[in-house]
Amino acid sequence: DGEVFKYYVDGEWRKSSSGKSVAIVNPTTRKTQYRVQACTQEEVNKAIDLAKVAQKSWARTPLWKRAELLHRAAAILKEHKAPIAECLVKEIAKPAKDAVTEVVRSGDLVSYTAEEGVRILGEGKFLVSDSFPGNERSKYCLTSKIPLGVILAIPPFNYPVNLAVSKIGPALIAGNALVLKPPTQGAVAALHMVHCFHLAGFPKGLISCITGKGSEIGDFLTMHPGINCISFTGGDTGVAISKKAGMVPLQMELGGKDACIVLEDADLDLVASNIVKGGFSYSGQRCTAVKVVLVMESVADALVEKVNAKVAKLSVGAPEEDSDITPVVSESSANFIEGLVVDAKEKGATFCQEYKREGNLIWPLLLDHVRPDMRIAWEEPFGPVLPVIRISSVDEGIHHCNASNFGLQGCVFTKDINKAIMISDAMETGTVQINSAPARGPDHFPFQGIKDSGIGSQGITNSINMMTKIKSTVINLP
Ligand code: G3P
Repeated sequence: DGEVFKYYVDGEWRKSSSGKSVAIVNPTTRKTQYRVQACTQEEVNKAIDLAKVAQKSWARTPLWKRAELLHRAAAILKEHKAPIAECLVKEIAKPAKDAVTEVVRSGDLVSYTAEEGVRILGEGKFLVSDSFPGNERSKYCLTSKIPLGVILAIPPFNYPVNLAVSKIGPALIAGNALVLKPPTQGAVAALHMVHCFHLAGFPKGLISCITGKGSEIGDFLTMHPGINCISFTGGDTGVAISKKAGMVPLQMELGGKDACIVLEDADLDLVASNIVKGGFSYSGQRCTAVKVVLVMESVADALVEKVNAKVAKLSVGAPEEDSDITPVVSESSANFIEGLVVDAKEKGATFCQEYKREGNLIWPLLLDHVRPDMRIAWEEPFGPVLPVIRISSVDEGIHHCNASNFGLQGCVFTKDINKAIMISDAMETGTVQINSAPARGPDHFPFQGIKDSGIGSQGITNSINMMTKIKSTVINLP
């Protein structure tokens, strides 16, 4: 409890002049696990000033050298997988094995980003003028991709490492500087990840990691004139940021209410295992979790029975024991989930399991016969509670999916590929998975939400492109 982890700026670890700290509460024990510095606005200013200076020479550092440093950071990150995973277990109650997977996946992401970067940033375009009406062949245009400047990265609690490096990697390979504001839950894992970049030998000031209270430095960071791009993953805060941010490119990945549409001809064993994996892994705390099942009435009983059999086998307990279901991130989150459950109960949903909660630990729960008047039909629990809505036509399923304010991903289960593609076309979501649960990965796939689910597209290639702009030089021939 005594130690307060330092924040990272100018290539070193520092205490905040505020003398204050922010507590990180272990979701399992509900006791303070770690403390981080509560940075001040002056410290934010300093970090951004240093980033601006460091970025200028970083942008002139040869691309292959930038890639080399990223490869080094990726290797160090993987070497440090055990202590970082330990933080994820303690700070966000991620099951032990998943925590290790997150770090390894992050190392792979950074390496891939370095490789992709040298390819796509290593080439530009050459255009000639006489293709446009009225022009002679008198102008040659050379284009290349140049960095934006200082990127602000704000990842969420559920992937404090992976969704940080998915922003840091593209920013750095493209020649940008990076200011990271980690989530409070997950901040120590993020600081340790930044330490790996420190060990890799990136120039001083290029990367900083500012911890603190959102109320003190949140708006200050996102509205700061020194920030040239914001990449944010999280919840409603993203909507507020996009309203307040200045004229800078925004990359936002916000919530989702990913629908799983199940047709009559679907392989129900496959559907059931995907619903359980998609709905309950990391206790449903994923933007891409299956958040509503829309199943054709004729196969609903059989499907619900299969899902229930699998839910009964999920282990519930501590993340250290690698339980399938672990405590949700905070008491307020658990209370919110409980509110949705109570509402569904009052309105007559069928409880396939008994609702059970101890502290932040909520047992997995499938709610059948959910109707559109229940909050859980539309809201995102971010917990291990999954509603089933029975539909009498595919159109009804598509209609429910499209009536959501979210549009991140969705999935459809059927053996008829033509139907699957037609349904995919009709679903207003950034991605549709055919015969599998929604998922962001592999990390080089494009990842985007429409409506309230986000702005722009992520995935390694898209993020690199988004964090650059085109620079043209036109040669005018005599
Ligand atoms: O919730 C964050 C979102 O990016 C999910 O990622 O890998 O669990 O599909 P993933």
